[in-house]
Amino acid sequence: MAAKITIVGAGNVGATAAHWAVAKELGDVVLIDIVEGMPQGKALDLAEASPIEGFDSQLTGTNDYADTAGSDIVVVTAGIPRKSGMSRDDLLNTNAKIVGDVVSKVAAHSPDAFMIVVSNPLDAMVYVAKEVSGWPKHRVMGMAGVLDSARFRYFIAQELGVSVEDVHGFVLGGHGDTMVPVPQYATVTGIPITQLLTQEQIDRLVQRTRDGGAEIVNFLKQGSAFYAPGASIVQMVEAIVKNKKRILPAAAYLEGEYGIDGLYMGVPILLGAGGVEKVIEVDLTAEEQANLEQSAQAVRELMDVLPSPEELRAAN
Ligand code: NAI
Ligand code: 2OP
Repeated sequence: MAAKITIVGAGNVGATAAHWAVAKELGDVVLIDIVEGMPQGKALDLAEASPIEGFDSQLTGTNDYADTAGSDIVVVTAGIPRKSGMSRDDLLNTNAKIVGDVVSKVAAHSPDAFMIVVSNPLDAMVYVAKEVSGWPKHRVMGMAGVLDSARFRYFIAQELGVSVEDVHGFVLGGHGDTMVPVPQYATVTGIPITQLLTQEQIDRLVQRTRDGGAEIVNFLKQGSAFYAPGASIVQMVEAIVKNKKRILPAAAYLEGEYGIDGLYMGVPILLGAGGVEKVIEVDLTAEEQANLEQSAQAVRELMDVLPSPEELRAAN
């Protein structure tokens, strides 16, 4: 039977994720939004592309959580995006209320699903989702690392003039200005980039990766990136639906891994039919570990201004 994938928030990111998901026939997709008519219109429009593109995945657009019942995977993109001059953290209070509200509704209708949170500020929002749903940590994760790493990989490929297919690498830490690209593990067909690029080039690409979201916002002015975020979500959905056992960077709940406790943050995870099946710990240099701790501190500062877990649950 086809997997049932609910995407909460049918805006730029949600609709783009739906597009990639049905194009890959990963399952039937339910798009739900608070705006009446919009998810219905986008779902129908996308469904009408199916004879051309040749996919048989079913699409439903709705404002009613009853239509999401029994989902296998829930993707949460509801919230407001950044505008020019805003940081992801400026979104904290507005999106915490929205995410708390939608998670309580969607979790009630699909109590056994896996949840991928996307709304920003990501590391804090996925924590809100875990607290409000009460689900175990292997079923609640955040998407950001796949996106940040894809940006890093793209910039490396462009700098070297090689295929993106041969470039691998990952970014650790919070999805913010303190994220930690890890050049020692970035490779082109197994060749460390430290053998192919100068330190000056690497530093420039690392900084461009950290600024990758803002670079797009500065062009778009009225919103943030959505093509690469949509594709990143779908890579995680595919890993779960097809039990691919991918090792992907994603926000996972840490309980001592990397010396960090009680926080969601980007780390390499083993992602398969069991959700977050494992957090992969890799050796870091003293500087990388220090940068990761600084990133954890930035996430903690966000968590400090969030309502307490009790307040979050009580509000929903
Ligand atoms: P958007 O504004 O295009 O779409 C957001 C949608 O959420 C809107 O359609 C809105 O009506 C809906 N919404 C708001 N409140 C809702 C509620 N209570 N129930 C259901 N739907 C509701 O924004 P976009 O570009 O799709 O971004 C969505 C979120 O994803 C933002 O918070 C953005 O910052 C974040 N984002 C995160 C990324 C990551 O790597 N984690 C990457 C890109 C975006
Ligand atoms: C991004 O990195 C805004 O978080 C979003 O593009």
